[in-house]
Amino acid sequence: AKGKELAGKKVLVTAGGTIEPLDPVRYLGNRSTGRMGYAIAQQAKGRGAEVVLISGPSALPVPDGVRIVRVETARQMRDAVLREFPTADIVIKAAAVADYRPKIVAADKIKKQDGEFTLVLERNPDILYELGQKKAHQILVGFAAETQHVEDYAKAKLAKKNLDFIVANDVSEKDAGFGTETNRVKIFARDGRMWDYPLMSKSAIGGIILDHVQEQLKDDTVG
Ligand code: PMT
Repeated sequence: AKGKELAGKKVLVTAGGTIEPLDPVRYLGNRSTGRMGYAIAQQAKGRGAEVVLISGPSALPVPDGVRIVRVETARQMRDAVLREFPTADIVIKAAAVADYRPKIVAADKIKKQDGEFTLVLERNPDILYELGQKKAHQILVGFAAETQHVEDYAKAKLAKKNLDFIVANDVSEKDAGFGTETNRVKIFARDGRMWDYPLMSKSAIGGIILDHVQEQLKDDTVG
């Protein structure tokens, strides 16, 4: 039975892809539509939580009752996340954050020229890693988008970023990952447990992630 299990909890969800400008008309982006994160936000709202959704550009409707913060770049997403983090109880990071941005953003539209064009990129901050360093009472859930060695890479991110759970999706599968209505995930917990779920809607996966979080909240209260 699903009641208001998350009443009194603040859930922070990130969704969509960040975009990194190159000049006034061009950017580097990725294929995230926001579907996964918006579905999680909607499920959390349905369970009675206060929900803040920090989103890269997305055409999706904002779920009822969810507070939206719209951002474009990774650095804007970082600022928005850090502002909400101290008062959050649960953080779920479904966003596809650009690891690199163009080092120079041209003030005017870049004109075509003969021959090759070289773009120099510099590193963006790793938002989730920073949260892992700052983590106090918060339950921290990351995602891992991989095309190979899904389990090894996911476990490495879980440890390095100091997470409670990581949700791994193989984004090379055609009905899972970016843009699809469905997804197929493995969830890894800090204590070594792993759950392998079949193909299902992103909404159902949102519910499952929250079930794991709620169980952890219960354990934290008892322990
Ligand atoms: O939006 P959809 O079209 O529904 O697609 C869903 C999805 C495929 C984007 C989603 O399911 C997903 O996998 N999201 C994570 C994508 C990603 O960037 O994964 P990653 O393995 O590169 O990053 C690992 C984790 O660190 C993620 O939680 C990410 O939000 C976070 N991160 C990554 C880089 C960075 N600079 N800062 C971060 O916080």
